[in-house]
Amino acid sequence: MERPELLGTGLFSLDGRVAVVTGAGRGLGRTMAVALAAAGADVVVSSRTQAEIASVRDEIRGMGRRSEAITADMTNESDCDRLMAGTLASLGGMDILVNNAGINIRKPVLELSLAEYRQVLATNLEGYFLCARAAGSRFVAQGHGKVINVSSIMGSVALPNQAAYASAKGGVEQLTKVLALEWAPLGIQVNAIAPTYFETELTRPLFEDAERKAFISGRTPMGRWGQPHELAGAVIFLASRASDYVTGHTLVVDGGWTAW
Ligand SMILES: NC(=O)c1ccc[n+]([C@@H]2O[C@H](COP(=O)([O-])OP(=O)(O)OC[C@H]3O[C@@H](n4cnc5c(N)ncnc54)[C@H](OP(=O)(O)O)[C@@H]3O)[C@@H](O)[C@H]2O)c1
Repeated sequence: MERPELLGTGLFSLDGRVAVVTGAGRGLGRTMAVALAAAGADVVVSSRTQAEIASVRDEIRGMGRRSEAITADMTNESDCDRLMAGTLASLGGMDILVNNAGINIRKPVLELSLAEYRQVLATNLEGYFLCARAAGSRFVAQGHGKVINVSSIMGSVALPNQAAYASAKGGVEQLTKVLALEWAPLGIQVNAIAPTYFETELTRPLFEDAERKAFISGRTPMGRWGQPHELAGAVIFLASRASDYVTGHTLVVDGGWTAW
């Protein structure tokens, strides 16, 4: 049996690995892409906005890692396939997929149109399925791979105005478990990260509303919102050898919210 590198940095090293991060132009995706690069990975960053992902690509190249920026819309099947093909063509491999691209439309159900509901599910759930399937065929062929799906505490708890988003994130956690089961014998681990509230463009309407911001801090046992860098440990763990016997799990990073 291989001797584990107990407590060695090698256990968490991503040297020689290639990661793809969707929704990497800003917010949590940007932070996780840079964190993976800091742990040694070469990283393809993707979103619909070329200028944002080009900036992240340049930051990662400045860290001495290879990086490419590939625009893709996660609601488009051929874009998801093209992203994986482009990763293989440009960086010569693919070992880690972080499904992170996401949107939210916060409305009471009676004001939420079917088009809005579908738009949230298409981005936050169908896009994850499409990218996992596209990357998975490569992972199965090579006998290893890590899929990390970014869920939310809304995957397991509910708040008003979150019908579309909570439906999608609940689906992400079930998709994670099914993929984990199907690919467990094939050397592929599939896990999710469920963050609480972090200050990004996605949550700007909430943290700019003093009452809402205070409600969220007050509801959080640690008494504050998360900072994007506080996701780094979770994504590096789930991308690395340190998690090789972990699959089908949702790792909450929530200051204790779901412990209530
Ligand atoms: N912030 C939080 O408090 C929080 C909490 C729990 C979970 N999350 C989850 O974390 C993930 C990232 O959220 P964030 O807060 O970092 O949001 P953000 O700052 O708004 O960033 C979202 C990213 O997703 C990309 N994106 C959106 N729609 C896309 C599409 N159709 N195709 C490709 N890329 C798309 C955006 O780029 P373009 O618009 O340029 O395409 C952007 O790069 C989401 O899945 C979100 O649900 C966030």
